[in-house]
Amino acid sequence: MLTKYNMTISNFYYFKQPAFDFINKDFDFSKLEWPNIIWPRLWVRDNIHNILTPEAQKWFIDIGLPEGTINRSCRIFHTKPFSGSNIHNDGQRIGDGDIQFINTWSINYVWGNSKLSHMKWFEEIDTSRGPQWSGSKTVLGTTYQIYDQDNVRVTQTENYTQGLALLCVKKAHQIQNLDQGDRYCLSIRTHDERTWEEIVDFLRPHLQIPGENDGSLS
Ligand SMILES: [Fe+2]
Repeated sequence: MLTKYNMTISNFYYFKQPAFDFINKDFDFSKLEWPNIIWPRLWVRDNIHNILTPEAQKWFIDIGLPEGTINRSCRIFHTKPFSGSNIHNDGQRIGDGDIQFINTWSINYVWGNSKLSHMKWFEEIDTSRGPQWSGSKTVLGTTYQIYDQDNVRVTQTENYTQGLALLCVKKAHQIQNLDQGDRYCLSIRTHDERTWEEIVDFLRPHLQIPGENDGSLS
């Protein structure tokens, strides 16, 4: 049993894959703006409903995350062949003040022609050093926290190349596209304030839990 009491919780769970298209194939992604301000090239809009299919929107309602909760700065990441992100967390700030919001978790849908992409999580070796604020801004005008790769060690690696998953983005993490195809990722952020442990518990009936059901993932 996965409970908050008796096992180490993973940072990554595939959803039981819905038997429908998640992305609206009629949506013209070529018309999107892909500002090349920082890595990753990303495009951010709050209006997710032009991108998700009606079935996907209903799926969010069915799993208990109704429409109003899934429109918080959703974004699409384009990770080019043999490239990747820096090591960061998803806390952001505007200006020089304290951190203003942090996404604890996200629901990501990945597609494209990449055959191998690794998502990694890290822990700091010397925690007194801490992450640094990024020098460049995101398209939202925010900065975010970057970790020195000499001061972290990998705690988890997942081959996340396709499909729908729940991810912890509060901890230091990184995506690497290790193949010659492009990787696209729609990352859905919510207004739901549950902690990582709480959202895993809440969405548990819809997740592939290794060792508990089909689709065991190492
Ligand atoms: Fe991130």
